[in-house]
Formats: sequence, structure tokens, C-alpha cells
Amino acid sequence: MNALEAEGLTRRFGGLTAVADVSLSLALGELHAVIGPNGAGKSTLVNLLAGELRPSAGRIRLGAEDITAWPVFRRARAGIGRSFQRTNLLREATVFENARLAAQAAVFAPRRWLRAAARDAEPIERAGLALDRVGLAARAALPAGSLSHGEMRLLEIAMALATRPAVLLLDEPLAGLGPEEGERVAALLRGLARDHAVLLVEHDMDVVFAVADVLTVMVDGRVLERGPPSAIRASAAVRDAYLGHAA
Ligand SMILES: Nc1ncnc2c1ncn2[C@@H]1O[C@H](COP(=O)(O)OP(=O)(O)OP(=O)(O)O)[C@@H](O)[C@H]1O
Ligand SMILES: [Mg+2]
Repeated sequence: MNALEAEGLTRRFGGLTAVADVSLSLALGELHAVIGPNGAGKSTLVNLLAGELRPSAGRIRLGAEDITAWPVFRRARAGIGRSFQRTNLLREATVFENARLAAQAAVFAPRRWLRAAARDAEPIERAGLALDRVGLAARAALPAGSLSHGEMRLLEIAMALATRPAVLLLDEPLAGLGPEEGERVAALLRGLARDHAVLLVEHDMDVVFAVADVLTVMVDGRVLERGPPSAIRASAAVRDAYLGHAA
């Protein structure tokens, strides 16, 4: 069954249509990569799915529920985790605190949050499990700002995992990483795709072709092509789109 399904998603900013009639489904056990040139609408699509932005048109379903109008925290509690293209950490707080705060956001509705947060053990447990999963347990007590760039990206994935999601939306988790750290994150993603539905936005084609089960290629807000890595690699339309956008 599809975990998350978008139908005809469109988002306009004034006269610009950043996402235009995009349909997409994410299945448990599958890594679905979204690629495309800068400005293609990839992050806008992630923000629509996560609830950060409302669509101008289209529907989003999580399992059998229509979640199109749901706010971010409700989607998070229902099983949608996401990481951001730009680093989104509290650098002075510890690695553990960052993960715990992320876990809390999914456990509590905003109004109950402060009152209940101090008493609840569940976010603590979730944070620990998430740090374990990404291999950062030994770094838990350090300030997040002291981590290497690659470890910070791993922590951001842990923060998404701390909400115990079924669906993971990851916007360029390898951005700015060297080959070694990139390889570590890519291996983690492959593992996460076994028990989550993963949407991965990524520019590095070698990584994408290595880890993705399905690719969606976006250009100017639209879906240009969709298919397994072999088909996308062979697509003349995809090659042209990339060459056309090269500086
Ligand atoms: N909040 C906003 N207000 C106005 N325009 C926006 C907004 N967010 C995005 N856009 C525009 O929408 C288009 C798509 O942007 P988006 O960030 O989704 O692209 P992207 O595919 O993620 O690009 P990149 O690979 O550079 O991250 C761009 O033209 C961008 O300038
Ligand atoms: Mg982006």
C-alpha cells in the first residue's frame, strides 16, 4: 500500500508556479528520489508534503486519510518526518537535546507542549533510539555545533527519525559532504528505506542512481520523467533538461 500519495499538487507564488500538477506516491520499503535542476520545485514539493506550505491545488493522502489541510505537527504525529535543505540545529544544545526536542514536537500538540514536556519519558526514549540508528549515540552529550558537517546531517536525520515516522522526507541530506561522509549517509538512507517510505531530494547523480528504487525528475515545477534508475539514465529528455540548465 502507498504510505503517502500526492495528486495534482500545485503551488503558485504570485505569478510563478513552483510546483505544477505533480502526482507522486511513496511506498513503505521504497526509496523515491526527486531530482532536477536548481529551482525545479523540489523543496517546495517537500514543504507541501510536510505541511509547511499549503497547495494552491491538489490533494495529499497519508494511508487512507486526506491530510491536505493538516498542519505540520499533526502530520508529524501521524508519521511524516522531514529534514531540511539548510541545517536546522540548535548548535549550543547537545546532540541529545536536539533529538529530544524533535521527538517532543511529534508527541505533543503545541498547547500541551510546555506543560507536559518535562514529565514525559517517551521523547527521551525516542531520541536515544534515533541517535543509535544514525550512529551518533557516542556523541549524544556533545554540543551539536561541535559535530563534523557529516555528523550534523546525520543528526538532522535522527531528528526526523525521533518523531518515529513511517514516511521520511529528506531534502538534500548529503549537501556539502565529501565522498567519505556522503557514503556514510547514503548507506544509512539505504537502510532506512527498508522500514520507511523515503523521499530523497539529491543532486549527486552517482548517489541517486546507487540508492534509489524510483526516480522522479522535475523541471520547472513539472514531472518530466519517472522510472527506475536504468530508465532515467537512458532518458534523452532528462539529459537535455540537465544540459539545458547547465550554466
Ligand atoms: N516562499 C517562496 N516565495 C516565492 N517564491 C518561492 C518560494 N519558495 C520557492 N520559490 C520559488 O519557487 C521555485 C522553486 O523553488 P524550490 O526551492 O522548490 O526549488 P528546488 O528544486 O528545491 O531548488 P534547489 O535545487 O536550488 O534547492 C524557485 O523559482 C523559487 O525561487
Ligand atoms: Mg531545494
